[in-house]
Amino acid sequence: MVKVLVTGGAGFIGSNFVRYALDRHRDWHVTTLDKLTYAGRLENLEGVLDDPRHRFVRGDIADRDLAAPLVVDADLVVHFAAETHVDRSILNAGDFITTDVFGTFVLLEAARQAPRLKRFIQISTDEVYGNVADGASRETDELRPRNPYSASKAGADRLAYSYWATYQVPVVVTRASNNYGPYQFPEKVIPLFITNAIEGLSLPLYGDGLNVRDWLHVRDHCRALDLLIERGQSGEVYNIGGGNEVRNLDLTRRILRLLGRPEHLIRPVPDRPGHDRRYCLDTTKLTSIGWRPETDFADGLAETVKWYEARTDWWRPIKQQDPAFREYYDLQYGRRLGTS
Ligand code: NAD
Ligand code: DAU
Repeated sequence: MVKVLVTGGAGFIGSNFVRYALDRHRDWHVTTLDKLTYAGRLENLEGVLDDPRHRFVRGDIADRDLAAPLVVDADLVVHFAAETHVDRSILNAGDFITTDVFGTFVLLEAARQAPRLKRFIQISTDEVYGNVADGASRETDELRPRNPYSASKAGADRLAYSYWATYQVPVVVTRASNNYGPYQFPEKVIPLFITNAIEGLSLPLYGDGLNVRDWLHVRDHCRALDLLIERGQSGEVYNIGGGNEVRNLDLTRRILRLLGRPEHLIRPVPDRPGHDRRYCLDTTKLTSIGWRPETDFADGLAETVKWYEARTDWWRPIKQQDPAFREYYDLQYGRRLGTS
């Protein structure tokens, strides 16, 4: 039996990973540790909540008394838990420092005492490289994060590395590009724009809409993490990119076309402060050990649009009834859209 601790497993990527891992590894027993913030939802774990190989623990990674014994008991730790939304970090960065930096420190300290720990996957992000004017970021490039979210992730990324260099905790750091797929919280651009379009609401496109993101299907991300648990080298960083660079305006038009909705729903709004123009990853290091993305972006986006069309039961309660979503939406978009 392999004991796996997944932090943040009730969030978007974490829940996809828990399902993937239990399906693929019959000898894995997974403990999900999640605080269930506004972004974490038990519904995301549908299909595995009753699985005898899965246990859910509600709690904060920064709570040492709760988190440390779970880490000490693990063979593998996959650490997703974080505050993740850039716009929220611009409104209020405090929780990002507490969870993304201090919470990671609590887990790493416990990892020093874990007798059987074979791998500690630190889920970082391509945002730590900052804006990429041209070319593609390599793992050895300087980190130049430019917003509170990416700066807190960069802090955790290097802290994790330091626990390998100093204490030989078997850390692997991953830096993935923008993920998309099922169960993504509808504050992020793809689910926000799909669900707004379904509801006939405006799609608030920041600035000139020409910022570029590289889209990675969450399933391909899970496959990469699975490979790195087996074949990653401790102390190393691995980029995980989808190879699908798309301008936001083009992405928005594609979503509208897939839904058969009119382009006049697009509403250019004032830009995100410090908005990075482009991210782009060089993934040679990962592809050289046998990974490549399998999901074609056109197919993956169409499949994702269909999922949100079918799963109004999942996102409507969040958008229409959850005060945490409504308050944030009004604060973030009220003035921009002239609805406040
Ligand atoms: P998400 O916001 O959907 O989920 C985050 C999860 O962490 C939630 O379930 C939340 O309840 C939990 N959480 C937050 N604070 C916690 C705490 N203090 N203790 C325990 N649990 C806590 O995020 P996501 O998009 O699934 O991202 C997962 C990870 O991947 C993050 O580390 C993020 O930085 C990284 N990442 C995300 C992307 C992307 O495009 N979504 C790309 C690269 C890297
Ligand atoms: O690059 C990886 C990162 O991708 C992850 O580390 C983050 O956790 C994740 O949230 C994501 O960050 P982004 O800021 O790139 O994602 P978001 O979905 O917020 O925005 C994607 C692009 O769309 C970005 O250029 C801003 C733009 N956008 C976003 C929103 C929410 C808009 O134009 N309008 C919007 O309303």
